[in-house]
Amino acid sequence: MLKIVSVLGARPQFIKAAPVTRALGQAGHREILLHTGQHYDYGMSKIFFDELDIPEPDINLGVGSDSHAAQTGGMLMGIEDVLLAEKPDWTLVYGDTNSTLAGALAAAKLHIPVAHVEAGLRSYNREMPEEHNRVLTDHCADMLFAPTKTAVDNLAAEGISQGVHKVGDTMYDALLQFLDLAHQRSGILDDLGLEPKGYFLTTVHRPSNTDIWENLRAILAALRVLEEPVIFPVHPRARAKIDEIDGELQLSAPDCNVQLIEPVGYLDMLRLQENARAILTDSGGMQKEAYFLKVPCITLRHETEWVETVAAGWNILTGPDTEAIRSSITAIDTSRAAPAQIFGDGHAADRIAALLAEHQLS
Ligand code: UD1
Ligand code: UDP
Repeated sequence: MLKIVSVLGARPQFIKAAPVTRALGQAGHREILLHTGQHYDYGMSKIFFDELDIPEPDINLGVGSDSHAAQTGGMLMGIEDVLLAEKPDWTLVYGDTNSTLAGALAAAKLHIPVAHVEAGLRSYNREMPEEHNRVLTDHCADMLFAPTKTAVDNLAAEGISQGVHKVGDTMYDALLQFLDLAHQRSGILDDLGLEPKGYFLTTVHRPSNTDIWENLRAILAALRVLEEPVIFPVHPRARAKIDEIDGELQLSAPDCNVQLIEPVGYLDMLRLQENARAILTDSGGMQKEAYFLKVPCITLRHETEWVETVAAGWNILTGPDTEAIRSSITAIDTSRAAPAQIFGDGHAADRIAALLAEHQLS
């Protein structure tokens, strides 16, 4: 039996971790869930534990929001205390947030083996805080769970081949595990009065889109003139910025179809995505989910880590550019070939649990 400390902190990490937590439990390993507290609103954190049946975190550091250094530093100190007390066989980290980097760095300094789920992703844009987190975490990690071949190739280009395993994507596992439940439990289409394929879905949370006024304005200007409802669950980072701009763009005017709502849970989000005419987003996870669900995606960034979705014709990169967004909506073609299974077979989490046991280092 392994003892594993899993470091989680932000919304997408709860979703990525849910299938792994299940697989580790089924394999009889002891997992200690360490929540950094990076996300803390009910709708950004606890709702996912409730819906995805993830046990309550064993520890919540309650670090909260702050500058990168203060937030990551607070996490580092708290995680170190836990690792010193628990002395796990593995520290498991997910994705590319400040919680990921803090977990990897704290463990590496203590010579506790680090395993990184979703290793090898690169945007090659160092303006993104996530890109530093990805590169540094991968270079700390002993075991690197790559979701795709591109991720394996990216690691090889940086000289990392030892400990790399292409396992598939745990977000695909999660979607397969929870889609039926979403159908049973989510009433969001009725609640919002939506017809299948009769609306757009959008999310925006990258600092480059929320914190640069011209970019947020360009995105909202494109959404504002759409003739079908645009459902927009607003990430807390974007909320105040949108409120500032609302006076000018009049998003709540009767002629505007944009519906700003609070962040939704995973089950509602799956339903909303599955039935959307198209998804317009800067989210990493939602670009993949759009692909899994065969929904066209318009990515409000100039580059993506998920290059396969673009190559397959299911994702268009527009950046925060009003004209490019509008013309890509007009160009949406739903007759394209079904997406290939490039994100695995839905059993990435089982492979991760098996590989951690097989390669026990300590
Ligand atoms: C973080 C990750 C990003 C990930 C995103 C997922 C980093 C550097 N960024 O970005 O990679 O895509 O999570 O959603 O780790 N806030 C609240 N309530 C919350 C959480 C945040 O109000 O529960 C607000 C605070 O004002 C905070 C801001 O959102 O300052 C940003 O939160 P933070 O966790 O720093 O970054 P995200 O933009 O959420
Ligand atoms: N998500 C959700 N509710 C929302 C917005 C997103 O459940 O209101 C889910 C989404 O389906 C995906 C994950 O959160 O599984 C993506 O998280 P986010 O966009 O915050 O981060 P990123 O993937 O860009 O790191």
